[in-house]
Amino acid sequence: MKKVVLLMCALFIGTCILGLSASAQAPAHAVDKEGHQWWQHAVFYEIYPRSFADSNNDGIGDLKGIATKLDYLKDLGVDAIWISPCFPSPQVDFGYDVSDYENIDPMYGTLADFDVLASEAKKRNIHIILDFVVNHSSDQHKWFLDSKSSRTSAHRDWYIWRDGKGPGQPPNNWTSTFGGSAWKLDPATNQYYYHYFYAEQPDLNWRNPAVKDAMFGVESWWYKRGVSGFRLDAVDTLFEDPNLKDNPILRPGTNAFGDPIEDKKYNTKLPEVHDVLRGLRKVADQYGAVLIGETWTADVAELNQYYGQGNNELQMPMDFLFTMVNKLSPAEFRKQIAAVNGASGWPTFVISNHDIVRSYDRYGDGEHNDQIAKLMAALYLTLRGTPIMYYGEEIGMKTTPATNKEEVKDPIGRTGWPQEKGRDGERTPMQWDDSANAGFSTATPWLPVPPTYKTHNVAEESKDPNSVLEFYKKVLKLRHENTALLDGSYKAINEADDNVLSYLRDYRDHGVVVALNMTNAPQKISVGLKGNGFASMKSLLATGSSSGSGDEVSLEPYGVFIGELSK
Ligand code: GLC
Ligand code: CA
Repeated sequence: MKKVVLLMCALFIGTCILGLSASAQAPAHAVDKEGHQWWQHAVFYEIYPRSFADSNNDGIGDLKGIATKLDYLKDLGVDAIWISPCFPSPQVDFGYDVSDYENIDPMYGTLADFDVLASEAKKRNIHIILDFVVNHSSDQHKWFLDSKSSRTSAHRDWYIWRDGKGPGQPPNNWTSTFGGSAWKLDPATNQYYYHYFYAEQPDLNWRNPAVKDAMFGVESWWYKRGVSGFRLDAVDTLFEDPNLKDNPILRPGTNAFGDPIEDKKYNTKLPEVHDVLRGLRKVADQYGAVLIGETWTADVAELNQYYGQGNNELQMPMDFLFTMVNKLSPAEFRKQIAAVNGASGWPTFVISNHDIVRSYDRYGDGEHNDQIAKLMAALYLTLRGTPIMYYGEEIGMKTTPATNKEEVKDPIGRTGWPQEKGRDGERTPMQWDDSANAGFSTATPWLPVPPTYKTHNVAEESKDPNSVLEFYKKVLKLRHENTALLDGSYKAINEADDNVLSYLRDYRDHGVVVALNMTNAPQKISVGLKGNGFASMKSLLATGSSSGSGDEVSLEPYGVFIGELSK
């Protein structure tokens, strides 16, 4: 009898366990044995939606276009796509001027198209990250239209309105980062409103609790629709000094827009920013979502502030200092990597985005650009941390700015010409093949396709085992499979070497060595296997004639060697 009861109990428990494992999916915030969450092992990829793939052939990319490329992205090794703003917008700042936070701009499709994209992405285990423009809305947002309508309107205090200092004088000396005064007079109500960016992007007043509630509401609205997180735009600029103190002028002279050079002390990086980030994070945590930050920090101490006390703010503040190492200098990269590796949170590495010159041109010497593109990929995709790629980087797309002012689309390129040519150069259409318009669209694309599309495109490079694209695929594959690259510690080796950047990733019973020749001449390094606790090395991935044997790595000019180390 006892036995029968025991057997029945066992059967019952067994059925419960089976039932559970069949129906329950791991929650999004589940951690692995290293305590890591999904986004710590994921490869992110930024898509500038206007420029990625145009499904309806109007010259502008769209959501359906992105959906047709999900298989390409999966095959490349992408786990999450960050789509730059695709919400309704007058497109003054190409989507960074949002007129409705809970919809899709008709030029990109519909909410139904978004839902299809989200479910197709999910099938492939690709997460979707949206871009949350938290500092400002469009001047065409209904909140601002109401705010502007009268001094007593319900939304007046949703933005920052002030009287001028005197007749024809703005409230203070703050200048817009896109040129001119940061204040615009509204003649109807005879007050000025504040805009850190274009006048068409009025700053929201985050000191107003109603603004907070509305924006936190937007955040959950998208999580409920299947979004796995946000990239938070321009977080430095959320708050301003309530007393509107004038900013100090740093030195004589003017910037590209003819404005004085200000220390933006009273309108950026105010401590109140962190209250908002903690609030956004609380909402994110309810959905197991990740927050990425556009965080332009001066040093790692500042970066640590964005992770927050006990990591209660952004999980992924981007380290832009890495993008500012503007030459192939092992010493400078070593220094920056060590600094970020020692930060209080998980590192986030980027080398390119829609606001800066592409890495291909920043590091290219004009002769070995493809080789150098592979070197940069081997560098930031093998570090301890999460990388965020930028579309086209994987095929060696070049920055192609307008050659005359009339062609420029990005408004700052027109006001700042010729010193500031704008950001069109890094936003050109994705190069899919060598057909007309690089296979991006059958219509004339919104920005011209760079001439390099004939040689640098997905179709051609997929056929060439030595292409930049095939190299990216190999590194990304290694990164997903090798536990030392996923979870291993980072250790710099040969720290006095001015030619080769080399480091180890050490994990339990094995490790990986990465050696990158940042010069135009052949180089050799020793790995120091024994001293570092390893017994032997074998090649995992190398470019050209670069190789490793015994304790030594030989590298061709700009060569890459990645080796597996056993203990
Ligand atoms: C961020 C975006 C940039 C935009 C600005 C204003 O810096 O990356 O493209 O122009 O914010 O929203
Ligand atoms: Ca289109």
